[in-house]
Amino acid sequence: MFDRDTGGARIELRALTKHYPGQPAPAVDNVDLDIPAGELVVFVGPSGCGKTTTMKMINRLVEPTSGEIRIGGQDVLSLHPDELRRHIGYAIQQVGLFPHLTIGQNIGLVPKLLGWSAARTADRVEELLTLVNLEPSAFHDRYPSQLSGGQQQRVGVARALAADPPVMLMDEPFGATDPITREHLQNEFVKLQKQLRKTIIFVTHDFEEAIKLGDRIAVLRERSHIAQYDTPANILANPADDYVAGFIGQDATLKRLALLRVADVQCERQPMSADMPRITADASLREALDVMLAHGTDRCGSPSGVLTYDALCEAVGTEPASGTAPARKEPVGAGPAAALKEAVRR
Ligand SMILES: Nc1ncnc2c1ncn2[C@@H]1O[C@H](COP(=O)(O)OP(=O)(O)OP(=O)(O)O)[C@@H](O)[C@H]1O
Ligand SMILES: [Mg+2]
Repeated sequence: MFDRDTGGARIELRALTKHYPGQPAPAVDNVDLDIPAGELVVFVGPSGCGKTTTMKMINRLVEPTSGEIRIGGQDVLSLHPDELRRHIGYAIQQVGLFPHLTIGQNIGLVPKLLGWSAARTADRVEELLTLVNLEPSAFHDRYPSQLSGGQQQRVGVARALAADPPVMLMDEPFGATDPITREHLQNEFVKLQKQLRKTIIFVTHDFEEAIKLGDRIAVLRERSHIAQYDTPANILANPADDYVAGFIGQDATLKRLALLRVADVQCERQPMSADMPRITADASLREALDVMLAHGTDRCGSPSGVLTYDALCEAVGTEPASGTAPARKEPVGAGPAAALKEAVRR
């Protein structure tokens, strides 16, 4: 249906507006947004600001009052809604599994509608149950009411992925899971997205989750007005205003550390003592800082040399910006290092 050359399909919203009947103001007002093919964009914004309404217009569970939506260049409003929805994965806040179908049948629903063979669908269901950490033999034949809320939510994610759609809309899909399951799902999801490069809109209230998953983050105000739309690194370095800064919270510097890898930093070629703690090249600088603090040292060994605390501070201060907004250059020592010390002290 959509152009799938790059795994995903570009989504374009133009002057998109939804005015629910009887409401004094539009829920979504004149929104323009471009989501490049294969990128994951996170919507962050307060409750009631229009995130779900914006998403539901994209798969036409809500009909726009005015404006345009294009996916892969195709005008979505000219397509048949049912046909459109088979090509858009959708995982929602309230899960929305069919109570009279088993877990296996729920996940296999869209592949079946698309005419996949029974054997191919069965393989896919098993693969996805394993992916979301639900043992297929234990869960395949149960009904949704026989699962916990978090388990149901994982089935919802599996169902959204089932037919390998080029576009996915995910509305707080991990919201009801405990921190450990949530981290597992996030990590699996990051890995999967690296391979598949689908175009994904992902809603969360958790800014850490937004930073971890998003290629870009759209920070929304009421009526889905866009306060800032940029990469996590640029938003953390240069919040557009106090409203955006409020979403980031207090410890922006620590959050930026989580975005950078040891491999991104200039390490020193010097001998490593046997008792120096070691860290892998793909560990984040935040993990490296944890290791330094735990060992009471200002350096640790990595495959590319010795990572020092000073190099780590410098990396946070001079993180080059990609994308639209320029990075704010702060003097090393005064700005980021001081902020880091302050954050660590808390
Ligand atoms: N069917 C509806 N009829 C009338 N108003 C609605 C309807 N659905 C949503 N709204 C209103 O539209 C606004 C946006 O709602 P929406 O569900 O899009 O918010 P949201 O950003 O997803 O919030 P949350 O974070 O709480 O899920 C809210 O003020 C809500 O009350
Ligand atoms: Mg919502």
